[in-house]
Amino acid sequence: MIRPVVVYGNPSLRKKSELVQNNYEGLQTLIADMFETMYNAEGVGLAAPQIGVNINLFIIDAREMDENDPTLVDFKKVFINPEIVEEWGDEWTFNEGCLSLPNIREDVKRRPNIKLRYVDENFNQFEESFDGIKARIIQHEYDHLNGVLFVDKLAMLKKRMIKNKLGAIEKGQVETEYRVKFYNH
Ligand code: NI
Repeated sequence: MIRPVVVYGNPSLRKKSELVQNNYEGLQTLIADMFETMYNAEGVGLAAPQIGVNINLFIIDAREMDENDPTLVDFKKVFINPEIVEEWGDEWTFNEGCLSLPNIREDVKRRPNIKLRYVDENFNQFEESFDGIKARIIQHEYDHLNGVLFVDKLAMLKKRMIKNKLGAIEKGQVETEYRVKFYNH
């Protein structure tokens, strides 16, 4: 079932998410709904808080993101209770967008390498290193679980420049191709 995506201004995006227990009721349905919602909105990643569920879960499907990057070919994954245990390398810039921030894209700096501990949808444990685009998407989604949005990472001047756009989203004055949920609208 496609769920509405909560957008900027909704407190759900600012909360710290909770650990997922392995008996969490309806988890597989929730994951299936998240994939459906993400595909419908043409996103490559979606964190549970973005549909108003504040638990440590995000999904990624970046298989078609970059045809020049063969390592993305099978990059479809579910991440539960992730923990970035290490982050290294010189920061690099990438133009990010977010389904919760419609019509905003900005260059964001992040480190290129991470080591991540997580469990998958069957609660199998992994500790894995990621780099490049993969690390980038994981870092972006991981931030959602801590109530952080990519616009928080922009320099002061850039933040000022997009203030009106953010205000418009907050007031419900933005058009999207997918169903969204504004706060108090
Ligand atoms: Ni996002």
